[in-house]
Amino acid sequence: MDKKVILIAEDDPRVGESLRLLLKKKGHETLLAPHGKEALQRFRHGMVDLVITDLVMPKMDGIELLETVKGLRPETEVIVITAQGTIEKAVQAMKLGAFDFIEKPINPRVISLLVERALEKQTLILQNRDLRSRLEDKFHFKNVIGRSERMVKIFELIRHIAPYDSSVLIIGESGTGKELIANAIHYNSPRASMAFIKVSCASLSEGIIESELFGHEKGAFTGAIASRKGRFELAHQGTLFLDEVEDIPPATQIKLLRVLQEGEFERAGGNKTIRVNIRIIAASNRDLQEAVKEGRFREDLYYRLNVVNIKLPPLRDRKDDIPFLVDFFIEKYNRRYHMKVKGISRKAMNLLTDYEWTGNVRELENTLESILVINSPDVIDVKHLPQEMRELRQRPEAIVIKIGTPLEEVEREVLIQTLRATKGNKRKAAQLLGINVRTIHRKMEGMEAFSEVS
Ligand SMILES: Nc1ncnc2c1ncn2[C@@H]1O[C@H](COP(=O)(O)OP(=O)(O)OP(=O)(O)O)[C@@H](O)[C@H]1O
Ligand SMILES: [Mg+2]
Repeated sequence: MDKKVILIAEDDPRVGESLRLLLKKKGHETLLAPHGKEALQRFRHGMVDLVITDLVMPKMDGIELLETVKGLRPETEVIVITAQGTIEKAVQAMKLGAFDFIEKPINPRVISLLVERALEKQTLILQNRDLRSRLEDKFHFKNVIGRSERMVKIFELIRHIAPYDSSVLIIGESGTGKELIANAIHYNSPRASMAFIKVSCASLSEGIIESELFGHEKGAFTGAIASRKGRFELAHQGTLFLDEVEDIPPATQIKLLRVLQEGEFERAGGNKTIRVNIRIIAASNRDLQEAVKEGRFREDLYYRLNVVNIKLPPLRDRKDDIPFLVDFFIEKYNRRYHMKVKGISRKAMNLLTDYEWTGNVRELENTLESILVINSPDVIDVKHLPQEMRELRQRPEAIVIKIGTPLEEVEREVLIQTLRATKGNKRKAAQLLGINVRTIHRKMEGMEAFSEVS
């Protein structure tokens, strides 16, 4: 662990010096100031992790020092030393955010323990903040990749609707980025600094989903040994993400509808009405209208959720995004695993673009991650791709021709498809068809449709 810097403000040199020696022995860096004013100067200059201050001092007393320190850097912990007769001041200090107080004469064991606890708490706060900023970075819009026309339109829509509280329903196949988009909406809304709470409706059994959503009071059911807040309460002033929303059981759908309409509910086993202010984003793999038609999903609830509708296209319908996603993921995993993969060969990229990604972006991402982790090549090439993708290259394409198709049309179809398979390479196509290149040119002249492949 890094050395921690502890600032001691104490006007009695004997107390100050012995405290300093003690903390030094524990491996900490120490600074000693004879009054609050000098302590503050030192605090402003150095990276102080913890402040220990006497309360009664000349020039600037401990309370004022505490207030100023907390104002400058709120995450700094302050331990207050009190003498007899200043206990009221110690109470005041606690209210102002002091970590704890210790009475004179100082017991070395007690102060050592307090110091360790205060430093530990501070480390946790800083780690938390770091995590938070990394999360925000992760969900920043710039990390949602999409250059295809359909995705660009979706981004425009998101930018437009993010600031409002209207409910959003996101529909898309597995791995198309529903959760990512839900996050992007939240982190680009005025609620960004508040909670984003996710509920995976499919993973919660009918028995527990209500207590998960709305919480419960102690004794509401066997096993409810303490009262507990539900996700609705946790998401207050933030965003609640209802994932796989079509799996919410009918009885819960009614309660959900009421919260959406009135913004209030009761905990299970409780009679106090709780009011919340929440934005709802729901997601589903399938179109909810089907579920409504089949009577599995309440129509009124559907309309409540479906104020803004976002349909995420599967990756096979936006192949132009694939090269950008590939670059993005190479970059992402280079950073994560400290690798230096430079890029991908054109042939390998073509295979990735042609592949039918049933698992959508998640499958593409996993594929690249495993290539980087397993091979960490200089440049990703065809040989690094999973077998099923390499086979795609060799598999002969088939053409279905109906019985009775005029021969002229058959010839034309075979010609077009062969040229497509060779990516317009006429020499190669001629070779495959067993004719010479000039014949291909001649046959093409009469067919306008060739313009798209040649
Ligand atoms: N447009 C995108 N740009 C960058 N990464 C993306 C994009 N879309 C999806 N991803 C990544 O693909 C993975 C799957 O995305 P996400 O979990 O949001 O999908 P989903 O639609 O919620 O899937 P499921 O239905 O299986 O829950 C995540 O790692 C996500 O970061
Ligand atoms: Mg998801």
